[in-house]
Amino acid sequence: MKIHHIGYLVEDMISAVKQFEQMGYNAKKEGVVRDDARGILICFMENGSLLVELISPFNEKSAVSGMLQKRGTGPYHICYLSDDMDRDLKALSQNGFMLISPPAPAVALQSKQVAFLFSKNAGIVELLEK
Ligand code: NI
Repeated sequence: MKIHHIGYLVEDMISAVKQFEQMGYNAKKEGVVRDDARGILICFMENGSLLVELISPFNEKSAVSGMLQKRGTGPYHICYLSDDMDRDLKALSQNGFMLISPPAPAVALQSKQVAFLFSKNAGIVELLEK
């Protein structure tokens, strides 16, 4: 599957954007987007063909605040483009992946459907409908 982006946890969104810019990334034109359903701020940063999704929780109820505390700043998921979400979810589920977040619209991605899976050996994987 083709990689769409790498999800990267940060604590302070504004400072992180500045430091990624210093390393040659440019924020996509939408800038920092607030996803209230997930309790996170998101900013997509481009560097050549690589897209990094900076994610910062803004409340304790956010799905990622525990992970940020436990693992600290850094990459934590790879997102792949899916031609057929149902088919890919089924195939991955049959191969050791567990669905941790069923398909739901992502505000920061034109409300396209995204789903998250976890496997002990591959970690967290996100699927984004094409
Ligand atoms: Ni993502």
